[in-house]
Amino acid sequence: MTQRYITLFLWAFSLSLIPYDAFPAEDEPFRESVIIFNTICAKCHEAECSGRLSFDDAYEASASHIIRHYGKASEKKWLQKELFSILNHMKENCAYYPMQVPVPPKRIWNSEILEKMTILMERNYFIPIGPITPGRYDLELILAKDEKVTVHLVSESFEFVVEDCYQSSDQRLVIPFSIEETENYYVRVYPRKPVQITRLVISTIKKSE
Ligand code: HEC
Repeated sequence: MTQRYITLFLWAFSLSLIPYDAFPAEDEPFRESVIIFNTICAKCHEAECSGRLSFDDAYEASASHIIRHYGKASEKKWLQKELFSILNHMKENCAYYPMQVPVPPKRIWNSEILEKMTILMERNYFIPIGPITPGRYDLELILAKDEKVTVHLVSESFEFVVEDCYQSSDQRLVIPFSIEETENYYVRVYPRKPVQITRLVISTIKKSE
């Protein structure tokens, strides 16, 4: 092999070692906090838009409250702190905490991407699905086993498009919905018993149907 081929070979080999990772590792802990907040804490604190920030020392005072609602935060000061700042972000900006997650092509989320949008123990999901334009759509979920799940589809301005409980059959669930405003939307799933979502698809319903 000539020098040139060796160089080329080494170059190609080193490229193959670079993993494709749409989620930079440094965002990992914070993304988990955002999902915890947007599934657990959101039940009471969603759309809390007072603009009034909590005092910095309020977080010490609220620690026991946070632990009551999310026991797994008890040994994790950083998690309590992050949940506290996420609440402040919502109060100040009247918005979900931004998540740097790309929307996959054709709006098909595979299990690999979905594993980044869930808290493993509870299997609650919070999935940013990006901007959706007015029209009629199907939201399809494929589950690892049949289960009853509560599904929310909510806009960035906290308007609920879907808010109901569904029983899957043949591990599948299809929920038709209509969008009237172009906005960023989010899917939230609370399974009755923990169950993995292996696929999520948003597809347009054709006019002729
Ligand atoms: C069942 C409803 C409920 C749930 C769930 C809940 N909270 Fe609260 N939380 C409240 C209420 C009510 C208050 C007192 C009123 C207020 O300040 O909003 C409060 C107050 C707080 C405060 C103090 C706010 C301030 O201005 O000093 C923080 C911080 C807080 N919650 C964080 C959380 C976090 C983080 C979670 C999720 C782990 C959570 N809460 C889950 C109802 C809830």
